[in-house]
Amino acid sequence: MVWPLATVAICTRGTMRNLASTNTMTMPPSDALITAADSALRTLFVKPQASQACPTVPEHHDDGALTPEEKHLSGALMRVNHVGEVCAQALYTAQALAARWPGPAGQAPNEALAQRLERAGREETDHLAWTQRRLDELGARPSLLNPLWYAGAFGLGLVAGALGRGPSLGFVVETERQVEAHLASHLDRLPVNDHASRAIVAQMKDDEARHARDAHQAGAIDLPMPVRGVMRAMARVMTTVAHRI
Ligand SMILES: [Fe+2]
Ligand SMILES: [Fe+2]
Repeated sequence: MVWPLATVAICTRGTMRNLASTNTMTMPPSDALITAADSALRTLFVKPQASQACPTVPEHHDDGALTPEEKHLSGALMRVNHVGEVCAQALYTAQALAARWPGPAGQAPNEALAQRLERAGREETDHLAWTQRRLDELGARPSLLNPLWYAGAFGLGLVAGALGRGPSLGFVVETERQVEAHLASHLDRLPVNDHASRAIVAQMKDDEARHARDAHQAGAIDLPMPVRGVMRAMARVMTTVAHRI
């Protein structure tokens, strides 16, 4: 039996979290692979459902106040943020998958770490849903390259995850911090009248900061400066391309 799919079908999200936090029995590799494939398909092809409305979005927002140019700019920036959330899903899924395999240096599978990463990934689903919904409202489309972004981030997550608990959590910390800084820059660039997009970005920025803190407290090690630089360069490529495509 493929227990992750079965439990998703019968559990509420809250119940699932409780189960995940208490069950540290190692998942068989075949089930771990199916779980990862299931997550990839959901991210790329299923409309995400947020577990909660974005708490900072004003109830009544009037996009008629935006000029066509402002709408175009907001759509491009929210597309970049949506790509970031697609990548977040890929990273957390791949790192969880890697945690369930023996590491290259002989590390034992770490089911508790895998479940922690999966919980974090589920929290990112709200961000994915909020950005997707905002794209729809703005009449903008997601990136045409989402499968490519997902595949690239998944590969990166596998490498980070294979390095073991400390580096894997360190990778989470650095990623979340870079995303937080990136979102702060978007608050400077989004049209001042686009209250809905700004509220989503502000909430996500707070959430990403918390994710970084959580991973740090869970035992992350600092990544070397050159690695952080490479991550920043890769993120720059992604944000530049996703702004347009
Ligand atoms: Fe996020
Ligand atoms: Fe995050």
